[in-house]
Amino acid sequence: MIAEQAKGLGARTICLDPSADAPAFRVCDEHIVAPFDDAAALDELCRRSDVVTYEFENVPGELLVELEKKYDIPQGFRPLFDSQDRVREKLNARANGLNTPAFAEVSDRESLLKGIFDIGYPCVFKTRTLGYDGHGQVVIREPADIKKAEPYFGTPAILEEFVPFDYEASIVMVADGEKVISFPVGQNIHRDGILDLCIVPAPQMTAAVREKIETRSREFMRRCGYRGILAIEYFVRGGEIYFNEMAPRPHNSGHYTIEGCDTNQFRELCRFLLGEPLHEPRLVAPTVMKNILGQDVDSALRIESERRPEVYVHLYGKTVNKPKRKMGHITFVGLNAAGYERWWAHRFV
Ligand SMILES: Nc1ncnc2c1ncn2[C@@H]1O[C@H](COP(=O)(O)OP(=O)(O)O)[C@@H](O)[C@H]1O
Ligand SMILES: [Mg+2]
Repeated sequence: MIAEQAKGLGARTICLDPSADAPAFRVCDEHIVAPFDDAAALDELCRRSDVVTYEFENVPGELLVELEKKYDIPQGFRPLFDSQDRVREKLNARANGLNTPAFAEVSDRESLLKGIFDIGYPCVFKTRTLGYDGHGQVVIREPADIKKAEPYFGTPAILEEFVPFDYEASIVMVADGEKVISFPVGQNIHRDGILDLCIVPAPQMTAAVREKIETRSREFMRRCGYRGILAIEYFVRGGEIYFNEMAPRPHNSGHYTIEGCDTNQFRELCRFLLGEPLHEPRLVAPTVMKNILGQDVDSALRIESERRPEVYVHLYGKTVNKPKRKMGHITFVGLNAAGYERWWAHRFV
């Protein structure tokens, strides 16, 4: 999706991915098949590019820091470094004006028991690094749940207070060092730890909470001195917002912007990379984005075949279809949460 927008702005792209059938390779002009930690391949990617970005969160820091000295990687390693470890991420959020759930560093039974004593039930155990879509997480509601975390003992982890949130929300921003733009805040509904729906405008959100998310997030971006794209996920409870996690790349909850806004997260990232002025986005109409997981592909194909106006089916072209794997998304423009429930929810299991 980044490569598509780059093309639209007149740029040529080269992508690196470990799999020879990566969806991006169908769109970009040139490609390199190599692991994300292959130093020589990453150097080649940078050498053959005028400007470089990342869309994968686990590019090793020691490689990126070296590459940054030689090549133009305008986002730099800093936002990636700050987000690669859940403890560091939350300490950084707190240090820069954001409220987080209570948390403790844990790594074995003893530290976990101490963490539970301090934080109380219910709480959430998560590995500090490499987690996504709810992987490496255990909700601990009572002593009997502790054994579910046992397989991770020995791995650095975090224990968080379970926030009984009213709903979840996220914001995507792009900064160029002077200006920070942000996309309209979405309300996110997860299923089994995986994003299912993003609804914009957020149906449960008051104007005061929206304002708080926008102001604090932009302020955070400035205080951290980040450039490029950043997404922040929040838990909302009453009038309070809690930082959950962030990602310095286009975010799944921002996929709705392709058709739901007058510019999108991929395009503004590319404009930043190309040194063009950023455009403050506007919502075109109320929009709902539904993720298509492996089990939803048949429904998505049926919906696509109906060719309805304002219904945009994106299938990414991943060759291996697995239940719970993100295979695409559908954007319904001009639809609110009630409309989605009424017309579309029943199409998916
Ligand atoms: N401390 C928490 N309290 C309540 N729910 C949580 C908490 N941490 C995670 N969750 C739930 O699990 C989902 C996934 O967790 P998250 O930390 O965002 O990890 P990732 O998206 O990297 O898998 C969240 O969006 C939320 O629904
Ligand atoms: Mg998340």
